[in-house]
Amino acid sequence: MSRITTGKGQELYRKAKKVIPGGTQLLSKRPEIFLPDLWPAYYSKAKGCKIWDMDGREYIDVSYMGIGANVLGYANEQVDTAAKEAIDKGGMCTLNAPEEVYLAQKLIGLHPWAGGVRYAKCGGEAMALAARIARAHTKKDIILFCGYHGWHDWYLSANLSNKNALNDQHIAGLEPLGVPSGLAGTTLPFHYNRIDEFNALMEKHKGKVAAVVMEPIRNDYPADGFLEKIRKAATEAGVVLIFDEITAGFRLCAGGSHKVLGVEPDMAVFAKGLTNGYPLSAVIGRKEVMEAAQGTFISSTFYTERIAFAATLKSVELYEEHKVWEKQDEYGKMVQRGWKEKAGKHGLEIAIGGIRPLGHFSIIGSENGLVYKTFFVQEMLKRGYIASNAFYTSYAHSKEIVEGYLECVDEVFGRIAEIGNRGEWVEDHLQGKVCHSGFGRLN
Ligand SMILES: Cc1ncc(COP(=O)(O)O)c(C=O)c1O
Repeated sequence: MSRITTGKGQELYRKAKKVIPGGTQLLSKRPEIFLPDLWPAYYSKAKGCKIWDMDGREYIDVSYMGIGANVLGYANEQVDTAAKEAIDKGGMCTLNAPEEVYLAQKLIGLHPWAGGVRYAKCGGEAMALAARIARAHTKKDIILFCGYHGWHDWYLSANLSNKNALNDQHIAGLEPLGVPSGLAGTTLPFHYNRIDEFNALMEKHKGKVAAVVMEPIRNDYPADGFLEKIRKAATEAGVVLIFDEITAGFRLCAGGSHKVLGVEPDMAVFAKGLTNGYPLSAVIGRKEVMEAAQGTFISSTFYTERIAFAATLKSVELYEEHKVWEKQDEYGKMVQRGWKEKAGKHGLEIAIGGIRPLGHFSIIGSENGLVYKTFFVQEMLKRGYIASNAFYTSYAHSKEIVEGYLECVDEVFGRIAEIGNRGEWVEDHLQGKVCHSGFGRLN
């Protein structure tokens, strides 16, 4: 199979690194975490689950679909028409956009336990907003958390008192530079499904905990009533339970994954799973908790723009109309089964994780896991796929696309096995450097 030739995308990325520290605004989009020096890096067009790079080459996205933001697919016509209509009617105005009320009504309708909604633009920002409201409501400081929740001070401060706190929640070696040292000890981690760790923190900081922040589900299913136990402890202690539904929300049902899991939080936060690519995030919460937003100060001009509200209303309508989560589940099941079957066929050891719509795998062998990932990405790119060791399924995929993808997975896994069987190193078959590690998420 042909070698990958670098094109305009890599040329632009080299320029980007001179003017944008880190090259891009999102760690998960850095070309180095896919295929250093060889990744197409930029897109000229995206539609459905197809992507065209800067040189006009066409690919199928079987990786992150807008890093989890495009549940319906890229450039969805109905969603984009709603956005265009909002633009034509004025995307910004001195008066408020009515759609923000309609969306709040819709979100409360889907989550009847909630009585209030506030908006922001990004996931991490909405998490900071939720943390602020919970602290304002309880008049306490400490937040116990599990998993990844954005870049803001409340979260990164976890590494102030323990420099390893975020190692296995997010990324190893994060320096909390720029985070005021006075926040040390205000955000403390526990691990998913480790109720003993959670209980110990609750006991140690009795009377001082404002909130518990966690994704209700991501990699593993909750075990032994984990969520119920947390719910009970939070209720008894008057602690606000915040579910981060930024990525898992709208992937298992119409609304938060907690609806399927049967545990109601006091607040839930939605963002990229909700809006099909438009910049909007929502914090929903029990009425008495959300009232605290009035006592503190949370206010921003662009939180009021109309386009994202209009697009999101249409996205939610389409999720419900087409039961989009069922397709995500169906394709996710095919993908995870396929990985397992193809790995077994070629005698590769593989670890598979993630709920079906957000599956990922890693090959375990005598070389570093990142070598196998890089080789997989390289070989899939040659075959016309934007692939990684994860597959976020979307409504824009199809059974045929997943089948075609799995045929290529079969070939690439076969090659990895062949190389090993010949006593060679997969690393010697890389066209460029080994990829960098991206996010680690243990929950
Ligand atoms: C669970 C979770 N929380 C928070 C975030 C941060 O959201 P954003 O990138 O929109 O700031 C993410 C993004 O990956 C996420 O998956």
